[in-house]
Amino acid sequence: MQKIADDLDIVQLMYFSRATNFRNSIEFDRDVRDILDHSRAYNPLHEITSALMTDGEMFAHVVEGPAIAVENLYFKIIYDERHANIITLQSVSVHVRLFSFWPIAFIRVKNICFIRTLNAQSVIGA
Ligand SMILES: Cc1cc2nc3c(=O)[nH]c(=O)nc-3n(C[C@H](O)[C@H](O)[C@H](O)COP(=O)(O)O)c2cc1C
Repeated sequence: MQKIADDLDIVQLMYFSRATNFRNSIEFDRDVRDILDHSRAYNPLHEITSALMTDGEMFAHVVEGPAIAVENLYFKIIYDERHANIITLQSVSVHVRLFSFWPIAFIRVKNICFIRTLNAQSVIGA
């Protein structure tokens, strides 16, 4: 797998959302397959690397890339009807990508837990 070079101007964005079709596993699986197929073609062309985690109901997605590429992609993602209740957890500049080998790593977990406290928020997949 080819590593995408780190850059001084990389944005790392993370959001959390709920799948529209989480009650129908056939439709949910089809949605995820279509998202992954599209992302595996699109993301490398735009120097995007990412990791998508789901427990069958919620998505947690980390998207990394040049600021303009991340912004353009996120604009498409937030209007995508395959999910809703989108919460942007963070959008920060980083020097090193976490998923530099992955156009879109896919991680299926049993349970995603979103914890929000007064001073911090985090996503835990188990
Ligand atoms: C949870 C979720 C994650 C997504 N992640 C990506 C992604 O990393 N890359 C991508 O190209 N599309 C992703 N998509 C799909 C986009 O929302 C959108 O459908 C796609 O970019 C095609 O948009 P277009 O038809 O306007 O070109 C994702 C969709 C969802 C629901």
